[in-house]
Amino acid sequence: MKSVSVFGLGYVGAVTAACLADAGHSVIGVDVNPAKVASLEAGQTPVLEPGLEELIKSSREAGRLKATVDSDFAVLNSDISFVCVGTPSRRNGQLDTTILERSCKEIGRALRKKAGFHHVVVRSTVLPGTAESLVIPALEGASGKRAGVDFAVCSHPEFTREGSAVRDFWEPARTVFGAQQAEHFQCLHEVYGQIPGRVFETTLRVAEMVKYVCNAFHALKVTFANEIGSLCEALAVDAGTVTNIFLADTKLNVSSAYLKPGFAFGGSCLPKDLRALNHRAKQADLDLPLLDSIMPSNDAHLERAVEAVLGTKRKKVGVLGLSFKAGTDDLRESPSVQLIKRLLGEGRQVRIWDQEVSLGRVVGSNRQFIEDEIPHIGLLLSTDLDEVLRNVEVIVIGTKAIDDSTLAASLRADQVIVDLRSAARSPKYATKNSEVTLAAEQESALPASFGALVLDAA
Ligand SMILES: NC(=O)c1ccc[n+]([C@@H]2O[C@H](COP(=O)([O-])OP(=O)(O)OC[C@H]3O[C@@H](n4cnc5c(N)ncnc54)[C@H](O)[C@@H]3O)[C@@H](O)[C@H]2O)c1
Repeated sequence: MKSVSVFGLGYVGAVTAACLADAGHSVIGVDVNPAKVASLEAGQTPVLEPGLEELIKSSREAGRLKATVDSDFAVLNSDISFVCVGTPSRRNGQLDTTILERSCKEIGRALRKKAGFHHVVVRSTVLPGTAESLVIPALEGASGKRAGVDFAVCSHPEFTREGSAVRDFWEPARTVFGAQQAEHFQCLHEVYGQIPGRVFETTLRVAEMVKYVCNAFHALKVTFANEIGSLCEALAVDAGTVTNIFLADTKLNVSSAYLKPGFAFGGSCLPKDLRALNHRAKQADLDLPLLDSIMPSNDAHLERAVEAVLGTKRKKVGVLGLSFKAGTDDLRESPSVQLIKRLLGEGRQVRIWDQEVSLGRVVGSNRQFIEDEIPHIGLLLSTDLDEVLRNVEVIVIGTKAIDDSTLAASLRADQVIVDLRSAARSPKYATKNSEVTLAAEQESALPASFGALVLDAA
């Protein structure tokens, strides 16, 4: 069992302190608010949360939980400090980390007096980079000691929900630990023991970011559901039935489908149907900002890809993939077509490879589309990959219809790669004299914003 201190006895800190004490650890809660300290000391909960008071009372009686305003006492008598202080919004939306910084300095001053190694675990919600830019400097400055040598800093975001926080604490969907060094995770494993769900060990920045991604997605889901509900109501459609049928699709709707960062969507359905829905909502005098923002957001994403190519400052560009997704020759509203049009407009010389699309092969409405809408693009098309690769300086990978080993075999070391398929595998440059293997380049990713062209849309 560990000796734990918990800084901040609000919703997160009080639950963390009580649950860890209930699990058998020796816990000291710290707060600058004497009323919260007194309440915990009296076996009462400082915040209203179902089941919390019982845990606090029993842990107090068992002698495993105490509270203090004295940071030094807490740090000197614990192996690990969980920082659960507030990180509120400023009026302009900026995250206010003043309290966090103050709390870290207090812990740092206490560390100055401590002989042994200590873990500082940030549970407060903070933007990526905060541990490195604020927490570590504050601790090092106040303690005169060094992160990674005298103490460890970990990020361990909190995912419990108010109202069911005690239950959520021991039944997490998953647990996330971030650290600078792998050996820093051990202490957290000792605190949590066998916890249900997957445990992810990752970097500080990833751990910090995951929390925001989850909350942004939850907010997005609520807003999406509410806008759809309002639209259904306006169109005299039963929203409950629509929702039930929507939720029954666990292949594409409630699933991991379409959730990997990629390039803009396109094709003959999504843009058209969104436009129709938004137009119908406007006719019904309905304001649906979320649904209305999807097309502009998609356009902005496409523009980031254009900027990525222009940013290479090279003239000859090869685009691999023209149709809106691999395995089809459908070019309607393909983001690649838009990308190429923009690049041509910016004076780039473009060559295009697409296995499925060439003037010689394509038939019917797609041939008509090329001849009528994009005749200049049709002329740039080739199904000869080597020929395209030979003659370009920048290669934009926009299709899944090509495998990395085929590509790697044909690349030159001086060519720049803009891989738009997936943020997780987006090599930026095949640097001069480097061995041109995509795998080896995977770490030097593009900025995630234009990480990928996932041409998956239906
Ligand atoms: N409330 C939630 O359900 C929830 C869930 C996940 C994450 N979070 C995040 O966790 C963090 C804490 O949230 P909360 O709702 O528990 O906040 P809170 O405001 O309820 O509690 C923060 C506590 O920290 C105390 N405090 C301030 N300065 C201190 C210091 N120097 N030393 C010790 N204690 C100090 C305050 O007196 C207060 O009791 C925030 O970053 C929040 O975004 C909250």
